[in-house]
Order: sequence, then C-alpha cells, then structure tokens
Amino acid sequence: MTVVPFPQASSEIDPIDGLVASHRPGYGLARAFYKDPAIYDRDMERVFRRHWHCLGHANIIPNPGDFELFKIDSEAVILSRAEDGTIHAMLNVCRHRGAEVCTKPKGNAKFFVCPYHAWTYSNDGSLRAARLMPKDFDRSAHGLKKLHVRVAEGLVFICLAEKPLDFEPIAEQLRTSCGQYGWADAKVAYRQTYPVAANWKLAVENYVECYHCGPAHPEYSKTHALEQPLHMIEKLNAAMEERTCALGIEIVSADNWQTSAKGQEAIHSFRYALYDGVSSGSEDGSPVAPLMGRFTDYDGGVTSIHLGGTTFLVCYPDHGMIYRFIPKTVDTCEMELIWLVRGDAEEGRDYDLEKLIWLWKVTTEEDKKIIEHTAHGVASRYFEPGPIAPMEHNELRYIGWYLDEISRP
Ligand code: FES
Ligand SMILES: [Fe+2]
Repeated sequence: MTVVPFPQASSEIDPIDGLVASHRPGYGLARAFYKDPAIYDRDMERVFRRHWHCLGHANIIPNPGDFELFKIDSEAVILSRAEDGTIHAMLNVCRHRGAEVCTKPKGNAKFFVCPYHAWTYSNDGSLRAARLMPKDFDRSAHGLKKLHVRVAEGLVFICLAEKPLDFEPIAEQLRTSCGQYGWADAKVAYRQTYPVAANWKLAVENYVECYHCGPAHPEYSKTHALEQPLHMIEKLNAAMEERTCALGIEIVSADNWQTSAKGQEAIHSFRYALYDGVSSGSEDGSPVAPLMGRFTDYDGGVTSIHLGGTTFLVCYPDHGMIYRFIPKTVDTCEMELIWLVRGDAEEGRDYDLEKLIWLWKVTTEEDKKIIEHTAHGVASRYFEPGPIAPMEHNELRYIGWYLDEISRP
C-alpha cells in the first residue's frame, strides 16, 4: 500500500498550478484540492470573488428597510431594500475602524448604526452621520463598500469582483427558463440550511452528478428518470418536450457552460423527464402546490440550471428550488435550500408545507451524509482519485471548469 502525498511541484512553478498541471484527465480531484488551505484561498479568490452567486429570492426582503445578513467564507454581506425599493448588497464592515455595523441576522431598519463609535449608514449603504468628525470629513467617500447586485426573474445575485462578468446573457437565459415558471412573482415557502463537514467542492460535485441517485436516493429515484443511462431517458424526454410544447411553452435548453476567460459567466440549462404519470418532485409524484407561471398543466418535466460555481436551480411546474453552496472553511460548507411557490399561494390553503418540502429534504439529508463520508475518505493519505463514470459527465465538466478558473489570475 502506498501513501499518496500531495504531488510535489517543481520549484519554478507555483505549487497550485503544478497540482492543476498534474491532474489526470477523466479522474477526480486530488486530496489537496479538498484539504489544502492554500487551495481554499485560491478558490475564494478565483471562483468566489470572480463569479456571480445567487443569495436567494428578492421576496425575502419585500419591504423598504428589510435586510438580511449573508455569511460566505470570511465575508458578511448585508442585503437590504432601500426606501425607494432598490436592492443593495454591501459589506458589513464599518468604514471607520472595521466593526460589523449590522449585528442582527435579519430585520427592518432605516439605518445601520455601528455599535462601536456610532457612524450611521442608510439602508442603501451611504454614510449619513459620523459624530465629532472634522468639518472637512467627506461622508460621501465613506459609505459601506457596495457589491454588484442584479435581480433576474426574482433571483438576487451578487458579485464581489471589481469588474463583474457580463450579466446580460445570464438574465436572458434565466428569462427563457425560470421565467417560464413565473419565478419573478414567486414567494419563498421555506428555507433550510444544512451545515456540511466537507470542502465546498465535494458538496457541489455531489450535486452535479446523478450516478449516485440510484444507490443513495431511493425516494428521488422513484420519480426522477435522470439516473438512467442517457439512451433510456431519450424517449421519456421526447414525450416530455411534446407535452411542454402542447402547453404552448418554450423552455430553451442552452449550454453556455464556459470559463470566464472571455468575461462571460457559466450557465447551463437543461431539461429532463420525470417518470410517466409523475407530475412533480414529491413523495409520490403528485402535485404539491398551484401551477406557476405559464403552466396550465403538468408536462412531466424538470428544468435544471447550473450557474457559476455555487448556484443551482430546479424548476417544477408547481414549485421551484434554489440550491446555494456556501464555502465556510477549507473543511466546512453549507448548503441552503430555498423552496419557491406561486406568489399568491397560501400555506394550508394551497399547499401543505410538509408535502412540498418532503422530497428534497430527504434527498439533501442523504446527500449531507454521503458528502461527509466522502470527506472522511478523501482525508486519508491513501486516497487516490478514481475514474469518473460516464453518467458523471456534469461532474467532469465542473472539475474541468474549476481547474481552469483557479489556474487563471
Ligand atoms: S468602527 Fe464603526 S464607528 Fe468606529
Ligand atoms: Fe444527491
């Protein structure tokens, strides 16, 4: 038995670039990618701070003054709705001496008053008052640092880069996918955060492949045909497309999964069928909420969207899911699931919350376990990456994309 060390890089090349260069095509990532703090820092610099990330649905802060605090890696972002209804994202770092200005996880506030020396910021981030400062102090130059923020089909995205990747193609692709399901007018029915004792990439890699669905998700596999080999689901997919078309709905599947080299964000939307007779992603496949958007009937299909490094979306005709992956430390991350229903749907009258969330709750609890088992396994110095199966094609693609991103300054 051989111990597999972190591959040794030659002295002339950056050790992480050396590891990327030694990656074996068609295989999984080496142990260091999940365990090395230097690679985690590189992930944060080149994936997290370069790409767009969905924070959730704008419906979580419906009224002027509503805010919520989001913590990702070592950053804390205040998402707030200003008096004029616009949405702002800013870093929770006082421009005086750096204290956190917002100390509550969510709420409603016209102002954020720093608990240290009471500099006072409006809910759009601008500095309104700084006590006992010299007369010539320029308040306008000391607002909270703002992040790029965009809202598309109700989804709120932030980007920490100085010059963000082009958002327009993303907005268009979301319009032709989530837009058809009426997500702009959806409401958040439920949210659940799952802490996971694993590097964030183990969680994402698990999400993007369904090779594990058969063995790990018996409940999901009863209704979703995705885990079948491609040739077996082609017939189901064709029948689904016919039904969607008969409803007069066109949902564009488009593969723009690309590196950020040309200033574009990666986005891939695709559709797949549920088994015959299955309407929605629920325990027994029956509907769980009122139909959304342009849907007047069930088409027996699912639209799935992968966007950038951390955002994944699932659309059923009667509900939707936002799946966020949140890096915390090299060894820990979180997955947040957000369930969407039609904006006017009322719990108890139009949907039973337990039934709505049952399938993805069960599935995500199973995922958390298998991701953590994998984290224990890859922590072994004897771990050697194995070959990626044909059914894991999306994982292979994600790994290739990731390696390219972290290689490029
Ligand atoms: S650190 Fe915020 S007012 Fe001093
Ligand atoms: Fe899974």
